[in-house]
Amino acid sequence: MCGIIGYIGKQDAQSIIINGLKKLEYRGYDSAGISLINDKNQVIIKKTQGKIANLESILNHKDNGKIGIGHTRWATHGKPSDINSHPHVSNNAKFSVVHNGIIENHEELKNMLVQEGYSFASETDSEVVPVLLEKYNQGNLLEAVRKVIEVLQGSYALCVISSDYPEEILVVRKESPLIIGLGEEENFIASDIPAILEHTKKIFVLEDDEIGVVSAKGVVVYDSQGKLVDKKLVKVNWSLETAEKQGYPHFMLKEIFEQPGAVRKTLAGRIKEGTVNLDLDIEVDKIDKIAIVACGTANYAGQVAAYIIQSRLRIPVLVNFASEFRYMNPLVDENTLTIVISQSGETADTLAGLREAKSKGSKILTITNVLDSSIPRESDYVIYTQAGPEISVASTKAYITQLIALYLFILDFGYRKEILNKELVASWLSELEAVPEKIEEILNRSEVLEGFAKNIKDAASMFFIGRGLDSVSCLEGALKLKEISYIHAEAYPAGELKHGTLALITKAVPVMAIATSKKLVDKTISNISEVKTREAITYCIAFKNVRDIKDVDYLFTLPDIIDELAPILTVVPLQLLAYYTAVLKGNDVDHPRNLAKSVTVE
Ligand code: F6R
Repeated sequence: MCGIIGYIGKQDAQSIIINGLKKLEYRGYDSAGISLINDKNQVIIKKTQGKIANLESILNHKDNGKIGIGHTRWATHGKPSDINSHPHVSNNAKFSVVHNGIIENHEELKNMLVQEGYSFASETDSEVVPVLLEKYNQGNLLEAVRKVIEVLQGSYALCVISSDYPEEILVVRKESPLIIGLGEEENFIASDIPAILEHTKKIFVLEDDEIGVVSAKGVVVYDSQGKLVDKKLVKVNWSLETAEKQGYPHFMLKEIFEQPGAVRKTLAGRIKEGTVNLDLDIEVDKIDKIAIVACGTANYAGQVAAYIIQSRLRIPVLVNFASEFRYMNPLVDENTLTIVISQSGETADTLAGLREAKSKGSKILTITNVLDSSIPRESDYVIYTQAGPEISVASTKAYITQLIALYLFILDFGYRKEILNKELVASWLSELEAVPEKIEEILNRSEVLEGFAKNIKDAASMFFIGRGLDSVSCLEGALKLKEISYIHAEAYPAGELKHGTLALITKAVPVMAIATSKKLVDKTISNISEVKTREAITYCIAFKNVRDIKDVDYLFTLPDIIDELAPILTVVPLQLLAYYTAVLKGNDVDHPRNLAKSVTVE
C-alpha cells in the first residue's frame, strides 16, 4: 500500500526520507520515489519502479536539500513503472506531490486540464494534483491547495512541496491517514508512524479536510473553514515493530480489521445510481457458460459466485481448483467466460489454468489485487480488488474483496444480459454498501470469538457444517483454522454427515454449524441435533432471532443481510476464530509452517 514521508529542517532531507521509506517497506510496494528542493531552489525528482535499493542507486548524493517528500507506491491506476511512480510534478516543474488514495474524478479533471493546454506524463490519477496546483497558484500555496481540494473527489493524503515556497510543506487528508511528527527546528510527515518513529514520538494526527502548513519552525493546522485548529499532541509509545502493525500484534489481525475499509475501496466509484459501473466491455450475449478457476481461498470465493450464478443467472457454471482445471481438458470454448481469481496475480497453477482456457478460445476475466501482475496481463478483462497489500500468509481481506468484486460482476452481467431486473440490482447494491458497517459491528464483538477459541484450542479435529452457501463458507472457515492453528478441520455439507463422517463425531470433536440460509435453517438445525446427540460441543453462526438455534452450546449472531450476501459476513467470525486459536497455541500466525504467500511454482 502506498506510503508517504516528508521532512523539513536542518538535516539532510534525502537520507531521512530514504530511511523513512525503508521503514514503510513492510506495507508492500512496487515503486518508490523522492523529491527535494535543492540549494539552487530547484525541484529534484528521482523515482523508479522496484525496490528502494533501485531508487538509492539513482540518487545523486550531492542533492543536499533540507526539504523533501518521498513515496512508496502500490499501483492502483496505471501499472507499476518509473513514470507512474510518485512524486508527480507540475508542467512548470515547480510543484511536486505525493498522494495516497484514489482521485475518483481524475479523468474529468485531466480532460479539463488538457483542454486548457496542460499535459500529463503518467497514467495515474495523482498527477492531476500538481497540475491543478500550477493552475491555481496565485502566490499563496495554502490558497492553491484549498482550491485544488475543492475540485477533488475521492480519498487522499497529499504532501506538496514547491520551489516557489521552499520553506514549507503543505499536507492535507481525506479518508487516508497522515501524521505530522514534531522535532526541534525540524518536522516530519508520514502516512504511518514507523516512518518517523526513530526521530520523534510526538505527533499530530491530521483529521479529514484539515490542512497543515509545516515549516522547520512549526506546524499550523487549519480546518475546512480555514479556522486555526488547536491540535492535540499525541505521544507515541510504540516500538518500531508494533508500529508497523499499527498496534496490532499480527498483520493477520490488522488485515481482518482493515476489511470494512477494503470493502469501501473496492466498491468506490463502481456503483452509479443503482447500477454497476465496472467498465467491462464483455459481449454478454455471446456468453452461454462460465468457468471459474482459482486456488485455495480464492477458489472458495469462486464457489460462492458459482452458486449464485447458477441459482440466479441460470447459466451453466464450472468451478474448479486451478491445479485440476489445467489438466482436466475442461469444457470451455469461445462462448465461455472464464473468471480467474487470484490475490497475488502470480499463482502458477492459476496462470496455467488461464492459459488452458484461453487456448480453447475462452475470454478471460480476472479478479486480482495486484495491478499489472502476470495474470491480469494475460487477461481480456480485469476487476481489481482494492484490498491493499496483504502481508499475512492467510488470506482475509483479499477474500472479502474478491467476493465484493464477484457480486458486482454478477449484478452487472445479469443486468446486461437482461436476467436481473433493475430493482433487484439496486437492492443488492444498497445491501453491499451497508456491508462495511456490518463488518465493523462483528469486529466489535471479537472477544466472543476469542472465548470460543479458548474452548477449541486443544481439539485435534473440528467440523464445519452448513448447507447451500453456508457449506462454501465452511470450506473457508476450515481452511483458515487448518492453516494457522494446525488443527485438523473438516468442512462438510451438513446433509452429508449421515453418509459416513458422522462416525467421526464424538465429544472431543467440536462442530461449527453455519446456519444463515433462511430457507435451509431448519434442516441445519436438525443436523446440529445429530451431532449434539453424539456429544459434540456445538458452535453456531446465524442471524439473530432464530429461536431454535439457541439450543447450540455457543452462538455468534450476524447482522441481518440478504441470504445470498451472507458469506461476506460469515467469514469474519471464522477468520477471528482461527486467528485467536492460533495465537492461543503460540503459533507464528503471519507465517504458518510450510506455507508461502505467493505460490509461483506448480
Ligand atoms: C489461504 C490462502 C491461499 C491462497 C491461494 C491462492 O489463506 O491464502 O489458499 O488463497 O494460494 O493465492 P492467490 O489468490 O494469490 O492466487
